[in-house]
Amino acid sequence: MFERELAATAAAMVAPGKGILAIDESSGTIKKRFDTIGVESNVENRRAYRDLLITPEGLGQYISGMILYDETIKQATTSGTPFPAALQKAGILTGIKVDAGAKDLATATGEQVTEGLDGLRERLAEYKKLGATFAKWRAVINIGKEIPSDYCIHVNVHALARYAALCQEAGIVPIVEPEVIMDGAHTVERCFDVTEHTLHALFHELHRQRVTAEHLVLKASMVISGKSCPQQAGVQQVADATVQCLKRTVPSAVPGIVFLSGGQSDELATAHLNAMNAGNADLPWPLSFSYGRALQAPALKVWKGQPGNVAAAQKALFQRAKLNSAACFGRYKPEMEKEAAAA
Ligand code: 13P
Repeated sequence: MFERELAATAAAMVAPGKGILAIDESSGTIKKRFDTIGVESNVENRRAYRDLLITPEGLGQYISGMILYDETIKQATTSGTPFPAALQKAGILTGIKVDAGAKDLATATGEQVTEGLDGLRERLAEYKKLGATFAKWRAVINIGKEIPSDYCIHVNVHALARYAALCQEAGIVPIVEPEVIMDGAHTVERCFDVTEHTLHALFHELHRQRVTAEHLVLKASMVISGKSCPQQAGVQQVADATVQCLKRTVPSAVPGIVFLSGGQSDELATAHLNAMNAGNADLPWPLSFSYGRALQAPALKVWKGQPGNVAAAQKALFQRAKLNSAACFGRYKPEMEKEAAAA
């Protein structure tokens, strides 16, 4: 029913040189971020911080869309413009996180399943009225001794597909996000196997539930060494492994793939994306970013909750977005970090 609208939104989300900014931290997660800078997490501070991220002049050159949280999509800028309207004016699409978070999976120690399907059709209709054109659902796949189980992968991709089908029915492009978590001592090879298995299961299930590949965006985790693995794969190895894994599993009909940063430093997340794009001119899909922490970290540090720091924090976000845009073309160089800092 919404074919043309869905195709246009998906194309805009992964337009050349543009990526997505995730500012959809739940109340629990944003409190953790604010704790690192000594700022209280209350409604007004959360609004002020999201205002800072939404309103930098010219950010739409590099950012195609922002993923908001339920509280945020109903808030407004300091001058009273609802956030979705402010984004639209800046040429940026409004997205919305619609899952209700990952909960412990019954009888499966160390594994989780993402909840939030109840009432989702009605919530999507409400978000669409508020201006959302795309949505996000994140599944969590942990790596450990004998996990992930097939049970965990199955229930998570099943929920992702149910969510994606409801989104497409509503004319909203689903970002489908199966995050293979970086925590642990596993090797890059183990991450490859788990990611490959998960993505195969995901696209099989999406097909089974009549989800149209052309009308979704995949948000993938990179194939990377576990955070505490003694042998850390280098930038080129991560780029090669990630591209190989995606080529094996993601249909070429998918309009684009964006990455989460997942706890990588901001500079490393940019370097990885750049290496993938620099070495691969012939991929079937654009590879871009949908970072939360790796885009926000410098801005959060500069802001510290002080209104007087807003302009400097916005500049920090703008620079990070610009460098990641360069990485979408394979044109990023580490020296650009110094130039950006001096600017
Ligand atoms: P990070 O880039 O901080 O991993 O967050 C992206 C995101 O939206 C995870 O769902």
